[in-house]
Amino acid sequence: MFRATLLTLFPSMFPGPLGQSLAGDGLARGLWALEARDIREQGLGKHRAVDDTPAGGGPGMVMRADVLAASLDAAAQPDDPRPRLIMSPRGKPFSQGLARAWAAGPGLVILCPRFEGVDERVIAGRGLIEVSIGDYVLSGGEVAALAILDACVRLIPGVMGKEASGAEESFESGLLEYPQYTRPREWEGLSIPDVLLSGDHAKIAAWRRAEAERITRERRPDLLAPFARGP
Ligand code: ADE
Repeated sequence: MFRATLLTLFPSMFPGPLGQSLAGDGLARGLWALEARDIREQGLGKHRAVDDTPAGGGPGMVMRADVLAASLDAAAQPDDPRPRLIMSPRGKPFSQGLARAWAAGPGLVILCPRFEGVDERVIAGRGLIEVSIGDYVLSGGEVAALAILDACVRLIPGVMGKEASGAEESFESGLLEYPQYTRPREWEGLSIPDVLLSGDHAKIAAWRRAEAERITRERRPDLLAPFARGP
């Protein structure tokens, strides 16, 4: 079973949105599991300190390697096969490919930092994989961890039900998704493209493919690069 362990200063942020809808139903049905642990349990002293001032000076605070290592060691045995991630805007970009690989595995241990950063030594010291969900800065790793888990959990067999086939979704085919329509046939003077009402399944498939290519070319030409490459 896919087991997610989160290390955070805000355990009440979990399961959050992952406790709702299909992910939440899957959690309740035991298709996956989530545990949120408070890093402060391994904090130091009366105030359970988890951070300190940066070596070399400068603004903000840095999360201590000894505290984070103790939190990780309490959460996962050394032989735990799950990848250990640390959320960071300087990390490896998250992708549908990583979601597929991680969803097929035993789960994830995810460290969610706050403050200016973490003591660099804990990253190599505990074999952490730095992962980013995009080129912008969040106030902490929790929202990034929720995004990663959402993308993984929906791929777990049984979580999504019938819609899970997903082969036509954005990024699964390598193209962005084609436009969709439903009733009413006319809405505010706008109609559904005739081909979709034609009943001609080959024509419909060709139209969808062409639209997916057009939208991908307009919005994300970088995704087409692998197709353009010669042999
Ligand atoms: N923490 C802060 N910003 C982040 C980002 N873009 N991705 C992952 N973790 C983060």
